Amino acid sequence: MNIIIGNQKGGVGKTTHAILLSNYLSLEKQKELLILDMDFQGSIKTKWNQDLEIFDNDPLYEVLQLDLETFSSIFEKLNSTTGYVIIDLPGKIDDNNLVLVFEQADIILCPFSYDKLTFESTIIFAQIIRHINMNAPIIFLPNRLKATANYSLKEQVNEALSNFGHIAPEIPDRISLQRLDCFTISENALGAIKEAYEFIYNTYLSNQPSKISITD
Ligand SMILES: Nc1ncnc2c1ncn2[C@@H]1O[C@H](COP(=O)(O)OP(=O)(O)OP(=O)(O)O)[C@@H](O)[C@H]1O
Ligand SMILES: [Mg+2]
Repeated sequence: MNIIIGNQKGGVGKTTHAILLSNYLSLEKQKELLILDMDFQGSIKTKWNQDLEIFDNDPLYEVLQLDLETFSSIFEKLNSTTGYVIIDLPGKIDDNNLVLVFEQADIILCPFSYDKLTFESTIIFAQIIRHINMNAPIIFLPNRLKATANYSLKEQVNEALSNFGHIAPEIPDRISLQRLDCFTISENALGAIKEAYEFIYNTYLSNQPSKISITD
């Protein structure tokens, strides 16, 4: 099952939720998985390498760093894979190689926030994805919500996005979600994501085998 984490808007929390979802599936649901780090910044792979030096225990998962051009050489292999493949995408949409990645998606997780610029980017992203892949469910994940803020666009944004997919429960803005590693998940981080992630897991993700199997 290819779970792509994308939005054409930068900085909305794609990498954060790629790591959190992976740690959650591994530690809370005992699932094996593979991360494909397709962001040219390679943030997850770098973090994973650093954490490997710090933590004594075995890694929860492997991270494969892959540029968008190389995806075409592995996607057939990916199609015969059972289990979870989490794909962290860059915050851009102007690369033709993304078409293949979008086509191969089984689920699209799209973090966003309730400001005008992010809304406009998120709608464009949803339209493009829908154009390329008509079947994969899109889950919009409201991210970094501040308890004190008044989001005047919220109702309008939710209405527009629900034409394309499901809106998950909100993720608050929390320091604990900025202090992530690839080996653990803190109680505070878990508390912040649990409701949204349980919804996503129970609705879309629970039917995969625990072991990852990649056929040659
Ligand atoms: N729920 C949250 N609470 C607090 N900080 C958050 C939350 N989500 C993301 N952040 C912070 O926002 C910043 C951007 O997050 P992240 O790098 O995950 O975004 P991105 O979409 O992957 O960005 P890019 O487009 O550059 O790849 C990071 O500093 C991250 O720690
Ligand atoms: Mg990122």
